[in-house]
Amino acid sequence: MTTDLRLARRPRRLRANAALREIVRETSLRAADLILPLFVSAKIDSRQPVASMPGVFQLPVADAVAEALAARDAGVRAVLLFGIPARKDELGSGAYADDGVVQQAVRAMKAAGPELLVIADVCLCEYTSHGHCGVTEHGENGHFHVHNDASVALLARAAVSLAAAGADIVAPSDMMDGRVGAIRAALDERGFQDTPIMSYASKFASAFYGPFRDAAEGAPQFGDRRTYQMDPANAREALREAATDVAESADMLIVKPGLPYLDILWRVKEQSGLPTAVYNVSGEYAMVKAAAEKGWLDERAAVMEMMTAFKRAGADLIITYWAREVAAWLRE
Ligand code: PBG
Repeated sequence: MTTDLRLARRPRRLRANAALREIVRETSLRAADLILPLFVSAKIDSRQPVASMPGVFQLPVADAVAEALAARDAGVRAVLLFGIPARKDELGSGAYADDGVVQQAVRAMKAAGPELLVIADVCLCEYTSHGHCGVTEHGENGHFHVHNDASVALLARAAVSLAAAGADIVAPSDMMDGRVGAIRAALDERGFQDTPIMSYASKFASAFYGPFRDAAEGAPQFGDRRTYQMDPANAREALREAATDVAESADMLIVKPGLPYLDILWRVKEQSGLPTAVYNVSGEYAMVKAAAEKGWLDERAAVMEMMTAFKRAGADLIITYWAREVAAWLRE
């Protein structure tokens, strides 16, 4: 038998069987990588479906606790809470009320499942009557302006109140400048030196947040968020924003949205070296759900591919509305 040396030296494809594929797999996904967002509402006494997010509900406190415990039982370690207050006002006072809906939910969850990590979103948009993430000032001809420093003071108050309720981590999502440093100082001053800050280091002004604004009832009543969220065209700016948050002592970073921003995720992770989460946002969820409902794609396969791609692109953590299902699928 003669051997064609050129052919003999071709590299083998390491894919011939499942075991081989498994030993060469570069990326793995664990249930502990997943964070489940929950919407807690003070306005309802039974769960209400979110029309644009099949499988996602607005929950009264008791149901939110049950949902968190069910996720824990499936293997999820952490939940991220958003609140819908009974009343909204100009200054978003529900965000920093000691009996605010998220404060109540945090207390109830920590009592029912102390080992579950409860992360509290820190923002004003769900609590303000105008739906912006900070305090607004109006000028002539419908112009308005979000007052950065006044907003930061209220966000710091919200973070302290959530930490006092027992939140394990606070996650500012507002994108005001200087908020991480201000929140750190406020937490330290009130004795919460050990509460980490997971900050939305690069949050883009994105069309993919549409369904979330239904779920959290936080759509802006006028204008948009482009003055404080980032331009999807800018990657270097995202790195500068992340570096600023790190300098202000953020402990973990979030990149958001996920799918269209994997390059940003990779670069933020490489640059910061911090635990980095990706937010697989509501619009990414809704589009897969819609296509799956039509029978146009296989939801489970698409979701597992997305999760693996987030990990491959550098995510340590994935904030996803599929957290509980993915955790259950990983056990099968
Ligand atoms: C704002 C906030 C938003 C999301 C999380 N926090 C929406 C926004 O900025 O308009 C979006 C999350 C999602 O779309 O799933 N506090």
